[in-house]
Amino acid sequence: SKVHYHDFLVQATPVKRLCKTHNAITVNGQFPGPTLEVNNGDTLVVKVTNRARYNVTIHWHGVRQIRTGWADGPEFVTQCPIRPGASYTYRFTIQGQEGTLWWHAHSSWLRATVYGALIIHPKPGTTYPFTKPARETPILLGEWWDTNPVDVVRQATRTGAAPNVSDAYTINGQPGDLYNCSSKDTVIVPIDSGETHLLRVINAALNQELFFTVANHQFTVVGADAAYVKPFSTSVIMLGPGQTTDVLIKGDQSPARYYMAGTPYQSAQNAPFDNTTTTAILEYKTAPCCTSKGAKIAPVSPSLPAFNDTPTATAFASKFRSLRRVEVPKHIDENLFFTVGLGLQNCPRNFRSRRCQGPNGTRFTSSMNNVSFVLPSNFSLLQAHKQRIPNVFTTDFPASPPLKFDYTGNVSRSLWQPQTGTKLYRLKYGSTVQIVLQGTSIFAAENHPIHLHGYDFYIVAEGFGNFNPRTDTAKFNLVDPPQRNTVGVPVNGWAVIRFVADNPGVWIMHCHLDVHITWGLAMAFLVEDGVGELESIEPPPADYPVC
Ligand code: C2O
Repeated sequence: SKVHYHDFLVQATPVKRLCKTHNAITVNGQFPGPTLEVNNGDTLVVKVTNRARYNVTIHWHGVRQIRTGWADGPEFVTQCPIRPGASYTYRFTIQGQEGTLWWHAHSSWLRATVYGALIIHPKPGTTYPFTKPARETPILLGEWWDTNPVDVVRQATRTGAAPNVSDAYTINGQPGDLYNCSSKDTVIVPIDSGETHLLRVINAALNQELFFTVANHQFTVVGADAAYVKPFSTSVIMLGPGQTTDVLIKGDQSPARYYMAGTPYQSAQNAPFDNTTTTAILEYKTAPCCTSKGAKIAPVSPSLPAFNDTPTATAFASKFRSLRRVEVPKHIDENLFFTVGLGLQNCPRNFRSRRCQGPNGTRFTSSMNNVSFVLPSNFSLLQAHKQRIPNVFTTDFPASPPLKFDYTGNVSRSLWQPQTGTKLYRLKYGSTVQIVLQGTSIFAAENHPIHLHGYDFYIVAEGFGNFNPRTDTAKFNLVDPPQRNTVGVPVNGWAVIRFVADNPGVWIMHCHLDVHITWGLAMAFLVEDGVGELESIEPPPADYPVC
């Protein structure tokens, strides 16, 4: 196994999109940031130097960070931020994961421009469980704001209103043909007739679940979140922010140019194939350029699901199976039930009314089990845990919601006013955990892509309505459920996940829609050290940032 050294320079860089140039925060002046390529078993050493005027941290999304929680990255969870002018070296080893992951800033909304692909090839001497593709292309779906995304979220927190939506969706940083001033930079993916390519699709958007499709072509899905799956074919995939999906695509259509398109799922602002659709072009090397009259031939347009096409999204999610039989924990030590959802909060008295711009004089909030998560500011949770620093967090995060009701019905918000807190849930090393993630629709029903740091979990079941332990338990797949780090909890529905708490440290679990993290849709697990030699977290690195 190899050690890969990289330098990440976080800096303001002029970037031109949608007819305007503004200073975006980038890594090494690149947007999207550099692609990292390793083999399973390799070690990454990334020195991050902060030359921007914001605090920053980098998270290696989906990397298990076994015993190296200090390198996980979420600010105030596993480290204090890297201050302007400072640096921190992340060091970690890829253990047992193969496929596509990614890295992104985990501080305010900086990940809008600070992100890149992390590609994990098979262990040296081993191969893919599918025919080796002729070529591999990362496809990073993203969101672009004409203004500074950090200002967008600051403005929203000041007023209590919902933050401005982005100005474009992007593929590899480019909005594509359907947006103003974007056509000449549209990403071209070349293909030869008969060739099979691997597309490593990553949803790096901040706040939007996205469908992705290529006109006239079928995908064969072979992996997700750096785990192989039983291959299945589909014409469209759907990814929540944080999720990755590896697909094979074959150059089996007549030589031409075909749109590859990303379009919102679950967003009010969508119409089919318009300027809420980001495009790239799959271009056959022998595609005719022009008509006999010399006019350029437009790429073939795809048919796209509608923004509210939940049946398509659900059917797609239900096709995932682990490639092989897996060891799902059968006996459960910790049987947890967490509600996830949005809410509204009365504005504090000293909040001037013209600043309180949420619905009906309230402001938006969100919570898990009625607790809206607040990050500490003087210590990271991990440091406070290891150094026994009191009054940074409590460990009374509830195992179940404080009251029961019809979670998918409309209830008055007086029934459900979240409290704020920095509450962790303590897990013994090696305990087996099941979490029912139940979506609520107190204010509005939405999908929530729930991401757990430090672990992959099995998604044993998903469904609509209220989870019913009597009837729904019978539907659990304990044989070959997919293993992922982010699960889309369906709108007005639930998902059940299982994992073994065998990675000591402090691990945040949150909705990967950044607007929902901003509102508190998060909690954290404190996983105790075990007694064995390799069952405790390593000591922190010498340059570990403190506050
Ligand atoms: Cu990809 Cu906590 O995030």
